[in-house]
Amino acid sequence: MGSGMTGYATYPSLRDTVVLISGGASGLGAEYVAQFAAQGSRVGFVDIQTQAADALVEHVTAHGHPRPLFRECDIRDLDAYRAVIREIAAELGDVQVLVNNAGNDTRHAVTEVEPAYWDERMRVNLDHMFFAAQAVAPAMRTAGRGSIINIGSISAHIDLLDLTAYMTAKAAIEGLTRSLAREFGADGVRVNCVLPGSVMTPRQRETWLTPEADAHRAAAQAVPHVLHPDDIARMVLWLAADDSRACTGQRWIVDGGWMHM
Ligand SMILES: NC(=O)c1ccc[n+]([C@@H]2O[C@H](COP(=O)([O-])OP(=O)(O)OC[C@H]3O[C@@H](n4cnc5c(N)ncnc54)[C@H](O)[C@@H]3O)[C@@H](O)[C@H]2O)c1
Repeated sequence: MGSGMTGYATYPSLRDTVVLISGGASGLGAEYVAQFAAQGSRVGFVDIQTQAADALVEHVTAHGHPRPLFRECDIRDLDAYRAVIREIAAELGDVQVLVNNAGNDTRHAVTEVEPAYWDERMRVNLDHMFFAAQAVAPAMRTAGRGSIINIGSISAHIDLLDLTAYMTAKAAIEGLTRSLAREFGADGVRVNCVLPGSVMTPRQRETWLTPEADAHRAAAQAVPHVLHPDDIARMVLWLAADDSRACTGQRWIVDGGWMHM
């Protein structure tokens, strides 16, 4: 929410569609949960922040939208995550849209990175995306349709410091997207990635926002206005809907014109 724009496109193909979102309790993920529910989708989401998740479920339901299904899960534990995906599918039906959103952009000095930390950064930013796609793909392929949306970042394409592991994972997500789009495309399953720019989520505001960083962001963007979670959600909804049925294997940049192609 927050861009001040009124009205959303309504996508008939998203009504009653089963959508799975990782990292859905806060930030961009919470916006996806709310916006898919507002489309009448049946939303399942996972996160480690249980209080925020419960509050979101109540907020969405209070607005008269279908009640999202929350399951606590640390997506770094791939066996646990696969089991939870099976549970969500058993409860809501086969997953038709997967939004691989969970991530973490904690900074680190190159000199201080140890192998275990590097592995953990890949777990939280990359590995779960492959294994969630692997888990939901069979049912999508059998159905002959499905949309998988991986959340990348323009950070893989711009100059930033102290973010090597995150930027490496985000770059890999683009390769993962192209590969899976080919793997699954013949069966009607589409795979795209969305690259947000700098978006004003609560964590970004609390953790990284300084007047200097905001001035840099505004100068770097072609249109200087602040980006809000619903700016990204609009792209995610469209990629999930049949309206984008001819689009797969691509990256979709929502950054106010910061990144140069
Ligand atoms: N906000 C931005 O400006 C921005 C820009 C580019 C890309 N992105 C990407 O968008 C996605 C969401 O970012 P955000 O800004 O909303 O982040 P955020 O930190 O606000 O939210 C991330 C969510 O993922 C959850 N999460 C983190 N680790 C988890 C784990 N191990 N298991 C389960 N859940 C976990 C968190 O609890 C949180 O709810 C990320 O992939 C991020 O890289 C964000």
